[in-house]
Amino acid sequence: MASATSYLLFLSIFSSVLALEAAQPRQSNINLESSLHPSTNPTSWLSPNGRFAIGFYPEGSGYFVGIWFVTSDENTTIIWTAERDGPPVSKDAVLKLTSGGLELEGRSISQFSMDSYASSASMLDSGNFVIYGSNLEIIWQTFDIPTDTIVAGQMLPPRSELISSISETNHSSGKFRLEMQHDANLVLYPMGTLDDPEDAYWSTNTGENPNLNLSLHFSNDGRLYLLGHNFTRNITTAYQSKPTLVYRATLDIDGRFKLYSHDFKSNATEVLAEFPDSADQCKVKGTCGSNSYCSSAAGPAVCSCLPGFYFLDANRTSNGCTRNFTGDGCSLNYDRVMQNMSTLENLVWVIRYGAPDSITNKEDCKKKCLEECKCDAALFNNNTCSMLKFPLEYGYEDENDATTTFIKVVTISPEGGRQSPAAVPITAMKKKFRTKIWIVSLAIIAGLSCTVDVFALFIYRSHRMLGRNRELGLVDEIAPRCFSYHELREATDDFKEQLGKGAFGTVFKGSLSNGERAIAVKRLERMVDEGEREFQTEMRTIGRTHHKNLVRLLGFCDEGPNKLLVYECMSNGSLADLIFKTKRRLYWDDRVRIALDVARGILYLHEECDTRIIHCDIKPQNILMDDNWTAKLSDFGLAKLLTPSQTRTFTCIRGTRGYLAPEWHKNAPITVKADVYSFGIVLLEIVCCRKNMELEAEVDAIVLLDWVSQCFASGELEKLISDEVDMTELDRLVKVGLWCTQSEPALRPAMKNVVMMLEGNIEVSLPPRPDSSS
Ligand SMILES: *[C@@H]1O[C@H](CO)[C@@H](O)[C@H](O)[C@H]1NC(C)=O
Ligand SMILES: *[C@@H]1O[C@H](CO)[C@@H](O)[C@H](O)[C@H]1NC(C)=O
Ligand SMILES: *[C@@H]1O[C@H](CO)[C@@H](O)[C@H](O)[C@H]1NC(C)=O
Ligand SMILES: *[C@@H]1O[C@H](CO)[C@@H](O)[C@H](O)[C@H]1NC(C)=O
Ligand SMILES: *[C@@H]1O[C@H](CO)[C@@H](O)[C@H](O)[C@H]1NC(C)=O
Ligand SMILES: *[C@@H]1O[C@H](CO)[C@@H](O)[C@H](O)[C@H]1NC(C)=O
Ligand SMILES: *[C@@H]1O[C@H](CO)[C@@H](O)[C@H](O)[C@H]1NC(C)=O
Ligand SMILES: *[C@@H]1O[C@H](CO)[C@@H](O)[C@H](O)[C@H]1NC(C)=O
Ligand SMILES: *[C@@H]1O[C@H](CO)[C@@H](O)[C@H](O)[C@H]1NC(C)=O
Ligand SMILES: *[C@@H]1O[C@H](CO)[C@@H](O)[C@H](O)[C@H]1NC(C)=O
Repeated sequence: MASATSYLLFLSIFSSVLALEAAQPRQSNINLESSLHPSTNPTSWLSPNGRFAIGFYPEGSGYFVGIWFVTSDENTTIIWTAERDGPPVSKDAVLKLTSGGLELEGRSISQFSMDSYASSASMLDSGNFVIYGSNLEIIWQTFDIPTDTIVAGQMLPPRSELISSISETNHSSGKFRLEMQHDANLVLYPMGTLDDPEDAYWSTNTGENPNLNLSLHFSNDGRLYLLGHNFTRNITTAYQSKPTLVYRATLDIDGRFKLYSHDFKSNATEVLAEFPDSADQCKVKGTCGSNSYCSSAAGPAVCSCLPGFYFLDANRTSNGCTRNFTGDGCSLNYDRVMQNMSTLENLVWVIRYGAPDSITNKEDCKKKCLEECKCDAALFNNNTCSMLKFPLEYGYEDENDATTTFIKVVTISPEGGRQSPAAVPITAMKKKFRTKIWIVSLAIIAGLSCTVDVFALFIYRSHRMLGRNRELGLVDEIAPRCFSYHELREATDDFKEQLGKGAFGTVFKGSLSNGERAIAVKRLERMVDEGEREFQTEMRTIGRTHHKNLVRLLGFCDEGPNKLLVYECMSNGSLADLIFKTKRRLYWDDRVRIALDVARGILYLHEECDTRIIHCDIKPQNILMDDNWTAKLSDFGLAKLLTPSQTRTFTCIRGTRGYLAPEWHKNAPITVKADVYSFGIVLLEIVCCRKNMELEAEVDAIVLLDWVSQCFASGELEKLISDEVDMTELDRLVKVGLWCTQSEPALRPAMKNVVMMLEGNIEVSLPPRPDSSS
């Protein structure tokens, strides 16, 4: 009723807009089997007031599905995009509403919780597209999964974020994020950062009390405010509440969170507020990348490289700068290398690794850094000298800042002297690395050939045995079984005892065969409804994996939306409990053994099972311990069920922050090397028995990877551990961890080599320093 009335109301007020959109049907209700096409009408479904539409819009070489509002004849503002990091679809694509939700090219782009099917959908006047279940309850809405914009009436709950777009014409994930943090702060960060205060460039400073559970709300009169159960804080004042006004708040491509109003009467768009409000773009961290600095004296922000550095991409000067050699000043060969200090004035930096020095004189500060091989740069301000290492970050020019920056410039002379061991050009470095691996592999094949033969024989035997079993009809013992929902309900006593909750759903305790066999039943909750075939294919893939270091899938249930997985029960909890929670440290030998268990499990997924599986979410919480304290990986093979297809970028799940490889933030393709990175982080956690982020630690030690790199570079590994360990082994494990966490995926070793290095079967070469190019 209400929508019909408003429809009439807006019909009279906005006849002009109506005339414009006459070709498109306005629908308060979209029925099942309705569809849209990019090139033939209808291309979109309009809201009853005619302002918002969902449908295809052109971008790049094709079309995306999104929601926009029409601001003038030829102008629209996109407020939401489906699968923004995927490729565009062609002009022949079809968007259809089915009982499984919104289907694009036959793939679902909406996810439901279990036991619900769609019955209809609606593009609401607020700008929210909702899908209704059979009782007209909302089972999915675009308001829950914002991209870079929220509109009046929408909110941002705790632990959610907006991510800016790349550009006006490319709505893929860009460079900045606005996070409604669990700790009650609303914070702006550059992408690819942890929630580290040093990376933040704006915050509401409301995080004194993490119990507040704040959400960001947006009222119809354009007021942005934070609300918790006993707390409110206005971020903007109230403006007008007029039927002709539409408000939106967007994290813009320049990293500013801006409140816009659009008046449908005057066709005027205005910026009412922006955060941070300073006009100086250079204070937005991430405007210029690593090893460059930002100046805005002449108007718009300009990025410049540090002396001795050049742009990673000359056409995108905001992406940061690099040098074309790697090398540590500590092992440079002075025959070919010239080092010089270059001076810059009035630059402000974030100091991450700085070691303050007792020097109080500018010339001494410069001289000390030149002599100190570990020093890459020095800052001198107010009679204080700080020594820094690359990368330098978030630098900007400020006329009023009296800091002097000294940068150590290394020049490698083209001829004369012998090759310096450390300052090797990057291309040569890679080649050397590859050759080394080759030699090592050959050595191993030669040296272990008898073992290899025995192993090959063993594989051959077990294959034959498998074949015989099949003939005898014992294959049921191996393949996962199909359970009915009823059976699993009984086995878990109506899902009574919850064991845990993960990215994919809730895990319940259960038992089979009258209590003889303990099981864990996982109820999938966030799954893309890919249809029966995809799920069963995936179950078969997972079911075929058999490895001592993988949690075994015993069976599954696939009854419509009821999708459940049955696993063997792991009695001794997760690795996270073991290394982060227990009082007594695990013995060193156990830590080494567990690291190897995990590495072997990943190696199997990557290289030894029929279908290569990328885990995507390796972390201690997903590594479980069985009765014998053998570590086993869980949750593998599920990432694919959450994503449209392996080739697309993952949009629904992006692993877990802290364990994510840098390429997740760069829209680069995700390969097995992303798992290698996560493993590297887990390995360092196992070695040091601490989490990858520890806010209570000393400044240098907060981010584990930085801390380990630093201790490794300075030869002070003993700082990392507080118990008795074998120093040779420690050195080896740390080196492996540093290789695995290289930001360039190609530099990370394959899991096969990781296992060999951990086993001590191959020498681990010196890992490159993690900075200079990143
Ligand atoms: C958007 O930018 C990303 C990163 O540069 C690129 O991979 C993608 O193809 C672009 N998308 C479109 C539609 O141009
Ligand atoms: C379209 O909208 C953008 C962003 O609001 C604005 O900058 C531009 O001037 C508009 N163009 C036209 C033709 O109205
Ligand atoms: C926190 O707020 C969100 C959104 O308002 C709500 O869904 C959630 O239940 C709240 N959590 C607690 C523990 O109050
Ligand atoms: C709000 O509630 C939390 C938890 O109940 C309490 O710790 C806090 O002091 C309260 N804040 C205010 C402003 O009353
Ligand atoms: C926030 O703004 C609203 C509307 O202007 C006002 O009624 C309310 O008192 C303000 N709240 C605070 C805490 O200032
Ligand atoms: C607003 O835009 C509509 C459609 O583009 C146009 O017909 C109308 O004249 C414009 N109104 C004003 C006040 O510019
Ligand atoms: C940079 O832009 C120029 C001109 O548009 C083009 O010729 C060149 O190939 C681009 N370089 C890179 C590295 O993309
Ligand atoms: C490094 O880059 C500079 C400038 O691009 C070039 O002149 C120099 O030859 C390069 N050095 C090596 C070792 O490639
Ligand atoms: C090093 O700096 C000094 C003083 O700025 C300058 O005279 C000298 O030429 C520089 N050397 C090199 C190799 O750049
Ligand atoms: C300079 O350092 C002194 C002593 O550490 C300190 O008291 C003073 O506030 C500093 N001045 C500035 C401008 O930072």
